[in-house]
Amino acid sequence: MATTGEAAALQWGGRFAVAPDAALIAFGSSLEDDLVLAPFDVRCSRAHVTALEGGGLLTGVAAGELHAALDVVADEIGDGTLTAFARAGTFEDIHGAIDARVRELAPEAGASLHAGRSRNDQVATTLLLYARDRAVKGAHLTLGIAGALEERALGALEDGTLLAATTHWQPAQPVSLAFWLDAAAQGFVRAAARFARVASDAARFCPLGSSALAGSSLPLDRIAAARELGFAEPSRNALDTVGDRDVALDLLHAAARAAVAASRPSEEFVLWTTPAFGYARLGDAAATGSSLMPQKKNPDPFELVRAAAARTLGTYTGALASTSGIGLSYHRDLQETKAQIVHGTEHALAALDAFARAFSHLHFNADTMEARAAEGYTVATDLADAMIAGGATARDAHAAVGERVLLAERQGRALDDGDIEAIGVADAPLDGAASIRAKRTSGSPNPDMVAVSIAATQREIDSIAKGLA
Ligand code: ARG
Repeated sequence: MATTGEAAALQWGGRFAVAPDAALIAFGSSLEDDLVLAPFDVRCSRAHVTALEGGGLLTGVAAGELHAALDVVADEIGDGTLTAFARAGTFEDIHGAIDARVRELAPEAGASLHAGRSRNDQVATTLLLYARDRAVKGAHLTLGIAGALEERALGALEDGTLLAATTHWQPAQPVSLAFWLDAAAQGFVRAAARFARVASDAARFCPLGSSALAGSSLPLDRIAAARELGFAEPSRNALDTVGDRDVALDLLHAAARAAVAASRPSEEFVLWTTPAFGYARLGDAAATGSSLMPQKKNPDPFELVRAAAARTLGTYTGALASTSGIGLSYHRDLQETKAQIVHGTEHALAALDAFARAFSHLHFNADTMEARAAEGYTVATDLADAMIAGGATARDAHAAVGERVLLAERQGRALDDGDIEAIGVADAPLDGAASIRAKRTSGSPNPDMVAVSIAATQREIDSIAKGLA
């Protein structure tokens, strides 16, 4: 027979003749994964008090007692005592722990808090509040990074720092550092827009009042509860809503995609800070050393950001997979979905914060970048373009310039005026600065075009930020 204490802690037990196997309860507990959700459960519980009161199911006095108890719980979340309380008990989750603490603080009113409520609608609602909060946080983080990249881009544009852009890591064409930084910013702006969409989706339908799966025969005021929690309206179908994790999965998807936006420039920074590249130097505050090799200085934050993206992608796949085999409504598998959503999101957000910090300690070596910008025949395309502008076909131009590159390579020299003469054009860019100035299309590294892109991106950053407020 389950003891009274265990039954109270577990929120069930009346119909059980034998006490639960402690190891199985421990296996089934999501408490540790839930701790981050505690403040959102408190808000959700307050809204449920509103739904009960609105339906005449609680007196104003009882509602007041419940709010006072929830005030205490909120304080205890802040100072860590709720975590200690929850860990000391036999709770299946944070929802059971908070319910138990409320019953301890306000025994009479506390016994009615769970009327018309199931952990199923409670978990679904709490997760949406979490998704909204973290999506806004993710948007601010990615906007902050995009803004920092554009600020550095403006400085680099003024300095006119050149860079050899690569494909396949092979020298491709000259660009500017400003162009590269503006490129990296675009991924973060898209990530921020994605987070913003998640935040707005997470404010549409409120699951609260869906109860276990079939709604309630109690007259819960769902509209008031939804409004209190900042949702547009109550969800439409209780059976769907208790098992729907779409928005929470979208949050993890947005987090994983943002982590990828950070991991790709991170990969470049790892290479750029090597002595072989020498394009950048990482300040001591963001680097680490070796326990054996005294000379080492490693760019660990960028390596960890790279790996965090991989981890988050794996978590997203796991989370989505855990929803794929279950039927409609709530199934316990969704507890695993939730754990992965929370862990993956927290880790991705931590990686974004780390990227922002590490980037602020990254210093570019403009001279080394510039010296390499025209190495590796990166102006070859400009020579071919000059021929095409003069009437040659793309095929002929490609072949003619290719022959000059082969010759120059054999002679161990760069392309020069002799090559320009040989291909029969009056003039063509032979260095990085001339190459980017010659670019005519919007979106190109022509400094005027880069200035346009930076300004447009900065406006978009502001407009996404305004939408979040
Ligand atoms: N710990 C569970 C979770 O996080 C709470 C929901 C339990 N619901 C149930 N019907 N057993 O998903």
